[in-house]
Amino acid sequence: MAVKPLTKDEIKKMEIVCKISARALRHIEKFVRAGVTTDELDKIVYDFTLSNNANPACLGYHGYPKTICTSVNEVVCHGVPGSYVLKDGDLINVDITSEKEGFFGDCSATFFVGEVSEKAKDLTEVARLARDKGIEIVAPGATTGDIGFTIERFVTRRGYTTVKEIGGHGIGRKFHDEPFVPSFGKKGRGDILVPWQCITVEPMVNEGVSGIKEFDIPNSSIKWYTTSDKKLSAQFEHTVLVTDTGYEILTVD
Ligand code: MF3
Ligand code: CO
Ligand code: CO
Repeated sequence: MAVKPLTKDEIKKMEIVCKISARALRHIEKFVRAGVTTDELDKIVYDFTLSNNANPACLGYHGYPKTICTSVNEVVCHGVPGSYVLKDGDLINVDITSEKEGFFGDCSATFFVGEVSEKAKDLTEVARLARDKGIEIVAPGATTGDIGFTIERFVTRRGYTTVKEIGGHGIGRKFHDEPFVPSFGKKGRGDILVPWQCITVEPMVNEGVSGIKEFDIPNSSIKWYTTSDKKLSAQFEHTVLVTDTGYEILTVD
């Protein structure tokens, strides 16, 4: 499907909202420690977003009840903040999406709570590098299959697996737009990227099997997921602009 490129003015708006999301992510990192609840993290990001004159895009999105997603340990994504108290050794992905003037900025990172296992550290590094290697492929003429191929090859070589059912997406005037940006694939397959469109690159990397289990969120059509073997999962996400020659990462501070 053809994507309508963003205008100069729309790109400016994407840069602004993406910077707010990136700043919120950097802000919340300071509060991630043992004893804090995921609901407390949610409230901090909610307040931060409003005080930066943006809106929490997840809140109310298809009935999703919170500002952020907090995915701890075996939770793959869309973990809903609540009364869970972070404990030493936990891995937590915080995923933040802000909206401003009709445009969306989406990013996430996996953080350590206190001292985590060597396995958790390695998995987290692989997830971050997988995201960054996927982004390096972004250019006009490259395909979503090229991105997925590169991500999966890297992750597999490091002894882990990628989640296939969920992945990155087009973003801009809509939170979730075409194309689907997989964390697996074949070179040359999928959608061809064009200048001045935005996508997210957000591989979910599992310690064990790639399979996931789906769970309902009350009063929402959004689902949350765990690994099917209850082993760890880690993820990083950036919103990226396709330029005329390559890419620009927008969710940077
Ligand atoms: N930010 C998530 C993504 O990366 C989507 C969260 S939607 C929500 O695409 F409703 F679960 F918040
Ligand atoms: Co996200
Ligand atoms: Co996303």
